[in-house]
Order: sequence, then C-alpha cells, then structure tokens
Amino acid sequence: MKRIWIINGPNLNLLGKREPHIYGTMTLEQLDALCVETGRQAGTQVSCRQSNHEGELIGWLHASRTEADGIILNPAGFGHSSVALLDAALACEKPVIEVHLSNIFRREAYRRHSYLSEGVLGVISGLGSGGYIAAVWELARRLGGS
Ligand code: DQA
Repeated sequence: MKRIWIINGPNLNLLGKREPHIYGTMTLEQLDALCVETGRQAGTQVSCRQSNHEGELIGWLHASRTEADGIILNPAGFGHSSVALLDAALACEKPVIEVHLSNIFRREAYRRHSYLSEGVLGVISGLGSGGYIAAVWELARRLGGS
C-alpha cells in the first residue's frame, strides 16, 4: 500500500483555537483523522506529523526518501521564509503537494510568496480541510493507490 505522509508546520498544533475566523474550528486531531479516513477510502496509508521546528520538518522530508511515497506539506509560516525547507522538498525526490488552509493570496502581501512552491507538484490554498482531502485523493491517484 502506498504511504502518504501529511506534514504540518509551526502553530498548526493550535488549529481550532488559533484565529478560527481564518483557520476554522477543526482541531489538528480531527483534521488528521479526516485525512487518515480519506486515505483509507483512497486505498492508501496516511500518517500525520506536526512540528514547530524547522529542523524536524526537514528531517521528516529526508526520511521520506525511503519511508514514504508522497507528501502533503503545510509549511505554515516557514513557506514564506525558508529556502532550507524548499531544498529539503527538492531533495526528497517524492511528489509533494503544498497545502494552505487559508487563501494566502487574499491575505497580507508577505504571505503571497512561498519559497516552497517552486519545489512542489502543486499548491492548494484556501479550501480549508478540503484542500487536504483533495491532495490525498490526487496523490493516491498518481501513486496508483486508487
Ligand atoms: C497557513 C498560511 C500561512 O501564511 C500561515 O503562516 C500559517 C498557516 C495556512 O494553512 O493557511 O501558519 O499555512
């Protein structure tokens, strides 16, 4: 069975409590459960990770070279600041879909650029949890899991 890793970046552990008018009321635990269930329906194995530390996110991208088949990555604030995360996404040599819960193009100017986007298969922004669901189905389709 194909393995999809969902990697969530800084502050996303506070989902549901953090700025709910922007990020919604669903908790990270609920989002993870939704993604795992979507993966099951799509015939893939989804596992979810979250870290507030750039180095840990990079370490997971490195590990994905041998331990995963595709990645869904919400870089959160690091998308707007981290060339190192882009380099790790390029180095992992796996299809990566970048997801943002909010529409970063409708927000502050500094959120409209993501370094990561240059190294990913595609970007979904503004669809809330629906963006993760769409990304799981699309990766499963590409990986042959459904
Ligand atoms: C985010 C958007 C980023 O600009 C922000 O820093 C986040 C979350 C999103 O999912 O909408 O932390 O990635």
